[in-house]
Amino acid sequence: MKKTFYITTPIYYTSGHLHIGNSYTTVAADTMARYKRMRGYDVMFLTGTDEHGQKVERKALEAGKTPQQFVDEIVDDIKNIWKSLNIDYDKFIRTTDDYHVRAVQKIYQKLYEKGEIYKSEYEGMYCSPCEAFWTEHQLIDGKCPDCGRPVEPAREESYFFRLSKYQDRLIELLETNPQILQPESRAKEMINNFLKPGLEDLCVSRTSLKWGVPLPFDPKHVAYVWIDALSNYVTALGYGSDDDREMKKYWPCDIHLVGKDIVRFHTIIWFALLMALDVDLPKQVYGHGWLQMNGDKVSKSKGSGDLNIVDPLVLTERYGTDAIRYFLLREMPFGADGEYNFEALLSRINSDLANDLGNLVSRTVAMAEKYFDGKIPAERRTAPLDLEIETVAGDVYRATTPFMDSMTFSSALTEIFKLVSRCNKYIDETSPWILAKNPEDLPRLAAVLAQLCQAIRVVAVLLTPFMPETCNRIIGCFGGTVERWEDAANFHCFASEISVHKCENLFPRIDIKKELEALKPMSPVKKETKPDPDKEALTEIGIDDFLNVELRVGKIISCEPVPKSSKLLKLQVDLGGQVRQILSGIAKCYLPSAFIGRNVIVVKNLKPAKIFGQESCGMLLASSHGDEIQVVFADQAIPGDRVR
Ligand code: MSP
Repeated sequence: MKKTFYITTPIYYTSGHLHIGNSYTTVAADTMARYKRMRGYDVMFLTGTDEHGQKVERKALEAGKTPQQFVDEIVDDIKNIWKSLNIDYDKFIRTTDDYHVRAVQKIYQKLYEKGEIYKSEYEGMYCSPCEAFWTEHQLIDGKCPDCGRPVEPAREESYFFRLSKYQDRLIELLETNPQILQPESRAKEMINNFLKPGLEDLCVSRTSLKWGVPLPFDPKHVAYVWIDALSNYVTALGYGSDDDREMKKYWPCDIHLVGKDIVRFHTIIWFALLMALDVDLPKQVYGHGWLQMNGDKVSKSKGSGDLNIVDPLVLTERYGTDAIRYFLLREMPFGADGEYNFEALLSRINSDLANDLGNLVSRTVAMAEKYFDGKIPAERRTAPLDLEIETVAGDVYRATTPFMDSMTFSSALTEIFKLVSRCNKYIDETSPWILAKNPEDLPRLAAVLAQLCQAIRVVAVLLTPFMPETCNRIIGCFGGTVERWEDAANFHCFASEISVHKCENLFPRIDIKKELEALKPMSPVKKETKPDPDKEALTEIGIDDFLNVELRVGKIISCEPVPKSSKLLKLQVDLGGQVRQILSGIAKCYLPSAFIGRNVIVVKNLKPAKIFGQESCGMLLASSHGDEIQVVFADQAIPGDRVR
């Protein structure tokens, strides 16, 4: 029996349109699915749409449509985008599919019968125009994050899932099983910022909206959208139906690929839910970074008009599917954030694709046709320079495979392009056009062209998961098709003769200056940029300057949110007998309870300031990476001691 491989993307919201940032998850998952298929796996690649909830209900109303009509249209658009990016999924699930709705109801019923769900009251801040509850953390400046209007405290009868009971099991799981959440740094974030501070039971039903899955034991409640959405990973395989063959075959999932913003839902809520249902956990959740523009997450608001620069359809039409797929996976080191801008996109297309790859293929094919009528003897070569090409091809194959296995796509591409560069250099070293002038050199010329054809075939096999269409065309020049990844290991795969056919220009060169001019009207207005002290090199200072900053170890004795601020936490910090109040902009990354009893490093002699009407005397040291903030803890140090 074939080995199976089950990979999922998150299911996409249907309350708005997708942008190139969302496409990143799906292109990465598609590349991995194609790679695994080439490795002989029976692959199940699942994607789909997340269609319930307040936002859809409201947007449909605004558009004068029923929620179902509204989501149907968006789902068509999303499917078109996946088509334009050549996403070859095996299954597309919609949370409005009947079988999913029935299965979610079964899940709730089971949890209710097992006592994992109980009835209580939800208390929160309520926005009546939006009919939505918000937590203190979600409010923006104390107001509704959706409409900006004032909110008021309110209660609602709700069902709760006993999430808190899974806290210790989840901590142990993440601490002892590093494979289950990758990259590893994300596990530390989950443990320190969310699990250790303490989990509360989760409100898993709403009565304030209709557009959701009604609970079977109390139909005036609908399911919480995240429980509805996360369940898709098993309902798509028939969990909760009469046919569980696919569940048996593909579960546990090999990789849930998600953006870093939703790792929390996938490792805390989803894992606890599976534990409660007695279903095995997935083998891995992989939290990738964000595609950013000018340092911010790419989002729909970054583009507008007919030529929207973040619209995947516009991009694939303008530059081609494979160029966009290549760019996404080449530019972003997987796991970390990457920058998206046109200069980078266009110069990648020109330098890597048109110049290096495209030229290599077109020059080789043109010479094979011109000098040998497209027929080159494929015998083994022994000249050291020729053998070097074979060696590099073998090395590249061996280095690329583990990068693919660990989804380190940009490193895999760097490897593959080493072979492309080596071949281009080989053309310069051997000067085939000079060899062609002398009939005695024709055997040598044939040898050079044969080596090039073999190497190009290896490149095309290895690039197939990334750029399937282009690679098919390249392999087509040699009259073959790409099937197995391992074909790249065999340099001498052609029979006695290599037959070469013309191939149209793979990647036309772009006139970058002209293109940037044409794109101007659709480029986002750049933010007023102040010099970024995190990126700029600051002027050197002497030790005396440094010692003027009084750094002290402080123990946090209390911590609470600052009313009306979504960013600030108010801390009371003991600096060795002297207690200071400090306001710190870390609320988006930490729960207040994460701090109590921990030691931090404080800038003690910072001028006091008033923020949100409250005094702040000092500052905590923390590092920042995009939106992520890591407070520097010094738990072993003694409160009050100086740090230098
Ligand atoms: N519906 C939820 C997921 C439920 S899964 C059970 C959701 N949908 S989403 O449409 O907002 O996001 C889908 C994916 O796109 C997420 O993995 C998200 O991290 C990713 N991205 C959204 N913007 C992104 C970038 N700018 N860059 C990279 N990925 C980003 O969340």
